[in-house]
Amino acid sequence: MSPPAEYEKEKQLALFIQEAFEREFERFAPFAVSREVRLSPNQRADMVVTTGGGDVLVIEFKKLTEFRNRFLGRKSQWSELKKAARNLSPEAKANFYQFLTAVEAGMTDKVVEAERTLKELIETADVKREAIDVTLPGRRPRRGHLHPITVVREKIEDIFVSLGYAIEDGREIETDFYNFDALNIPENHPARASQDTFYTSDGYALRSQTSTVQIHAMQRRGAPVRMIAPGRVFRRDTPDPTHNPMFFQVEGLCVDRGISMAHLKGTVAEFLRRMFGEQTVTRFRPSYFPFTEPSAEFDFSCFKCGGAGCRICKNSGWIELGGSGMVHPNVLRGAGVDPEEFSGFAFGLGIDRMVGLMYGLDDIRLLFENDVRFLEQFD
Ligand code: FA5
Repeated sequence: MSPPAEYEKEKQLALFIQEAFEREFERFAPFAVSREVRLSPNQRADMVVTTGGGDVLVIEFKKLTEFRNRFLGRKSQWSELKKAARNLSPEAKANFYQFLTAVEAGMTDKVVEAERTLKELIETADVKREAIDVTLPGRRPRRGHLHPITVVREKIEDIFVSLGYAIEDGREIETDFYNFDALNIPENHPARASQDTFYTSDGYALRSQTSTVQIHAMQRRGAPVRMIAPGRVFRRDTPDPTHNPMFFQVEGLCVDRGISMAHLKGTVAEFLRRMFGEQTVTRFRPSYFPFTEPSAEFDFSCFKCGGAGCRICKNSGWIELGGSGMVHPNVLRGAGVDPEEFSGFAFGLGIDRMVGLMYGLDDIRLLFENDVRFLEQFD
């Protein structure tokens, strides 16, 4: 029996460290054998990689580095052991170092291999995550679309622009002068009462019709002038299927030398033909508006039944659209236009009811309830 080697105690310690290393290394072993390894989610994640399939792979690279340092680093027991071997006799030292080197190489190989596998796992997961499956059906972005009132308003604008009309932008809050006086509306007219018109607390009126823009347009542009003014108006009307307290109108104004009722009829008829089709017939009925003289309301033959009578036109064959007339001389004068030299016609129609008819709505209040389920039907 050979005497115990001079370094037997150190050797035992080395084997003991190696054993502890092996035991602890087990934690990292799955990395070496499987690419599909998944650590439990409550493990501290030093690096979290989301794989393509949405799985979360927790990879503890830092822990592996800590592990290596703990067992083989400069301050490790292993390193102490190597230093201690310096005191052995030269022969024993050579043998012992050979032994230590072999054990250390085994341990280092394992760590290096685990590191390599980990790096590969991370790369694979990255590639998976970044890969684009071009065969997957795309996700269609939800696109908005124009409100039906805007669609109809733009169609009206296009027609009048092609007839040589400018588009005017009006004010929604007006003084009494523009809302009433300049439109020849007498002092005691019921429209001025607060049960018909909304007023701000400092006495301004929310315009109750787009006719106010006639005055601004003539003051700004003088005569001749040809314009339409689409916009929002406000009335103290109780909401019902054909009334809203806020709705849209389009005003039209044409002032020039020698303008007559014939121009008014021709323009409105042409507009309605372009809007609802060549076969559309227009009719005028005498009416009264303070700012036009003579005045007329105009109807057009039902676009649905062509005049035969149906649900849309309430069996009359006609659909009422708006008011019109020759601009009252007082209105021209008040806006600085000489009625001896110029004459003009004006008309105004409500967009909301027209939209209601065109889209078959039985209640125009739906247009402002902002219910997406309703609005998305008009795409
Ligand atoms: C006017 O407002 C006149 N300014 C039209 C005019 C212009 C006449 C130029 C002469 C010269 P009226 O009050 O009839 O007219 O309203 C016109 C249209 O607005 C109606 O035909 C209707 O379509 C619409 N309208 C009126 N009140 C409401 C309401 N509460 N809700 C929705 N639409 C309405």
